Amino acid sequence: MAHSKPLLVVAIDIGTTYSGYAFSFQHEFLADKLKITTNKVWSDGDNHLQTSYKTPTSVLIDPYGDFHSFGYEAETNYSQLAKNKEEKNWLLFRRFKMNLYKSQVSMDLEISHGPDIPSLSMRYLYMRKAALQSGILGDQLAISLEPEAASIFCQSLLANSRSDDEFCDADDISRNGSRYIVVDAGGGTVDTTVHEVMLSGDLKELHKASGGGWGGTQVDDQFTELLSRIFTVKVMKEFGKHHKSDWLELEKEFEINKRRISSNDEQKFTFRLPASLHETFSFQSKCSLEDQVAESGLSRDVRLTGDKMRISGKVMQSLMKPTIQKISTHVETLMADPKCRGISHILLVGGFSESPLLQEEFRKNFRSVNVVTPLDAVLSVVKGAVIFGHRPGAIGIRLAAFTYGIRSLSTFVDGEHDPDKLIMIEGERKCKDIFYRFVSVGEEVPYGMETSEHTFSPTYSGQTKMRATVYKSTVTKPKYTSDPSCFKLGSFRVDLPDLTGEKNREVGVKFIVGGTELKVKAHEKTTGKIFDATFNFVTK
Ligand SMILES: Nc1ncnc2c1ncn2[C@@H]1O[C@H](COP(=O)(O)OP(=O)(O)OP(=O)(O)O)[C@@H](O)[C@H]1O
Ligand SMILES: [Mg+2]
Repeated sequence: MAHSKPLLVVAIDIGTTYSGYAFSFQHEFLADKLKITTNKVWSDGDNHLQTSYKTPTSVLIDPYGDFHSFGYEAETNYSQLAKNKEEKNWLLFRRFKMNLYKSQVSMDLEISHGPDIPSLSMRYLYMRKAALQSGILGDQLAISLEPEAASIFCQSLLANSRSDDEFCDADDISRNGSRYIVVDAGGGTVDTTVHEVMLSGDLKELHKASGGGWGGTQVDDQFTELLSRIFTVKVMKEFGKHHKSDWLELEKEFEINKRRISSNDEQKFTFRLPASLHETFSFQSKCSLEDQVAESGLSRDVRLTGDKMRISGKVMQSLMKPTIQKISTHVETLMADPKCRGISHILLVGGFSESPLLQEEFRKNFRSVNVVTPLDAVLSVVKGAVIFGHRPGAIGIRLAAFTYGIRSLSTFVDGEHDPDKLIMIEGERKCKDIFYRFVSVGEEVPYGMETSEHTFSPTYSGQTKMRATVYKSTVTKPKYTSDPSCFKLGSFRVDLPDLTGEKNREVGVKFIVGGTELKVKAHEKTTGKIFDATFNFVTK
C-alpha cells in the first residue's frame, strides 16, 4: 500500500468487537473514490442486528487447536456446541484485541496457550495467505489510524455529489481552514484526532492522536454489573460458567436493547431471561427473586414477570452515561486546547457513535459546534482506510507523536556527559548512548518529509558493519537513549565492506516521516549502497 499507485487496496479492520473489510481497485478509485466494496451482510442468525456490515471479532478453535470459524458463525457454532454440552475442549475467543493492552479476561472468554489469533482472523477473511504471498509484511502494508481514516472518508463524501444522501449537516467541513474533531467511538477504545483542511484539500493534524478505553464494551460491563446486582455475583458467575450459550443469548439481547437507549425516560427494555438463570438463582439463593430485587434497591426500575425482565429507561441510561461522560470530557479538553481553536464540527464515527443517547449528550454538551454523524458511521473507518491506501498523502501534515532518533557515540566532554557513559575506544574518550535527534515530538511533519542528513562514522578502523538503532522518546530533547523516556523501536545493519578511509568513512543517515510509518535510510558513501528499515511512526 505504500507504493505510490497500488492496483488494489484492501483495508482490514480488526476491531475489538466487530471486524470487517473493504476494497477498491485503482481504476474504480480513479472513477469514483467512493466506489468501495464491502461485505454486504454478515448473517447473525435470527437476531437481525442492524449493523451487519461487520462481524463479531470472535474466533472458534476446535479441540485440535485449529481454526474452525469466525464471526457470527463462530458464536453460533459455539452456542450450538454449548447447548449440546459438547463445548469442552473448544475455545471461543472474543474481544481478544483488548487483551493485547490489558490482561483482563471476560466471563466467557477462554485464553489458551496458543494459536496466533489475529493472524487466524486474517486468514478467515481470505487475506492472510494472499497477504503473505504478496509480501504484505513489507512495503505493501500500511497502518491507518481509525479517526484519520474516518476523516478522509467524510471529506470524500463531501467532495462527491452524492454527499447529500449519505451525510447530514456537515456542509462546511471541507472548506479551506475548517477545523474539526473526529471521534471514533468503537467497542474497545475511543480515538480522536483534530484536523484542519488545507488549501490543497488535504488535512493537517492539529493535535496528537489521543483517546482512551471508553468504548461500547464498558457499557456491556455495566450491564454485567447490573445483573450481578439483581441476581448476585455468585449466581452470575455460576450462570456464566455453566450456561454459556444462554449467557451469549443474553448478551445479544443486551446488544439489541443497548442500541435503542435514548434520553427518553419513558422507554422500557425487555429481556427474555433464560430458564437456566432462574434455576441457578433458585439453587444458589435462599430468598425469592422478588425479595432479592427488592433488596438490591431496584424494584422500581426492574420488573421480573415469568421469563421476562423489564428494565426502565433511566437504569439503561445509567449504564451508558458514565462512559459517554468520559468521552465528552476528553473532547472538552481538546476543545479547550489553544492549538484547537476554531473548531466548528465534531464528527462522530464508529459503532458506539450510532447510539442515540451518545449523540444527544454530545449535542447537549457541545452547543457551540455542529455534531455530525455520517450515515455509515461504522463503515467510515474501513472505507476511509481504503481511500487512504490509494492516497496516503491525504493527511498532508502530521504532528510527530514522539521524538525520534538514533543511538550514537560522541566525544566525551567532562562536565557535560555522565561519567557512567564514558568508554575508551582506540585510546579516545567517548560518550555512549547519545540520543541523536532527527524529529522532535509535536513537530509538524509534512507527508513524505525527509530530514536533513547526518553523517556517522565507524567507531573502529577495521569495522565492517554498523548497527543503526532507532529510538523514540516522549520528551523533546532526550539526552541518552537509556533515559526512562526512551523506547527502542528496532535496529538494522549497515555493511561497511570497504575499509578504505578507516574511521573517516561516512554513513549519511536521514529519516523519512509524515506518513504512518517512519523510514530510516542509511547511505554508505564508499560503496554508495543504501540500507533502510521501516518503523511505526504513529502508534504507541
Ligand atoms: N446503535 C448503537 N448504539 C450503541 N452502541 C452501539 C450501536 N451500534 C454499535 N454499538 C456499539 O459499538 C461498538 C462497536 O463499534 P465498532 O464496530 O466501531 O468497534 P470496533 O471497531 O469493534 O472497536 P475498536 O475500534 O475499539 O477496536 C460495540 O460496543 C457496539 O455494541
Ligand atoms: Mg474500530
